[in-house]
Amino acid sequence: MHEIELRPEEFALFRKYIYEKVGISLSDQKSTLVKGRLNKRLNHLGLKSFRDYYDYLVSDLSGEELSFFVSAISTNVTSFFREGAQWKWLESYLPALVASKREKKLRIWSAGCSSGEEPYTILMFLQHHLSDFEKWDIKILATDISSKVLTHAMQGAYEPKAVEGLSKEIIARSFEAKKT
Ligand SMILES: C[S@@+](CC[C@H](N)C(=O)[O-])C[C@H]1O[C@@H](n2cnc3c(N)ncnc32)[C@H](O)[C@@H]1O
Repeated sequence: MHEIELRPEEFALFRKYIYEKVGISLSDQKSTLVKGRLNKRLNHLGLKSFRDYYDYLVSDLSGEELSFFVSAISTNVTSFFREGAQWKWLESYLPALVASKREKKLRIWSAGCSSGEEPYTILMFLQHHLSDFEKWDIKILATDISSKVLTHAMQGAYEPKAVEGLSKEIIARSFEAKKT
C-alpha cells in the first residue's frame, strides 16, 4: 500500500469539519491516528492526497463517508465486564439505588456502547444482582457515534473468545451457541 502523508494544514481541515459536524475535538496528537486509519481508504478510493479525500468527504451529502470517517477514527475497545472496579462499585451502590426507588423502574444509558458488551453487561449484572429482577421495568439505551460498532451491537453476536473470562453460570443464562 502506498503511504500518503497528512500535512498539518490538511489535518486542520479535517479537525474543523469533524468538530462542526459531530462535535469531536481532535487534538494535534490525533494527526497520526487519522493518517494511519484513513490511508487504506484513500488508496481504496484511488485518491492521491488527504486534500483530495477532504474534498471527497465534504462533497458527499449522503453522510455515508462522514459515517465511515467517524467509525475509522473512533477507538472501540470494549469487553464484557470491562474495568472490574466499576462493577464492584456498582454492586456496592445497588442496594442504595434500589432503596431510593419508589417504582421498580430503571432507565440506563450506555452513551458510548461500542459493539454492545457494556449494555449487555449491565443487563447481565442486573439479572445477577437483583433478586426480583423479573419484577423490574428496565430499559437500557445504547448509543454510539460509530454506526459500524452499533451494527455489531444490534446483532449481539460474539466470538467465543469474548466470553472467555465469564462464569459458566452467566454464559449459560445469557448466551446461546451459534446454530450452524
Ligand atoms: C473505548 S470505547 C468504550 C466502550 C464501552 N463504554 C466500554 O467501556 O467498554 C468508547 C466508545 O465511545 C464512542 N464515542 C466516542 N465519542 C462519542 C460521542 N461523542 N458520542 C457517542 N459515542 C462516542 C466510540 O465510538 C467508542 O465506541
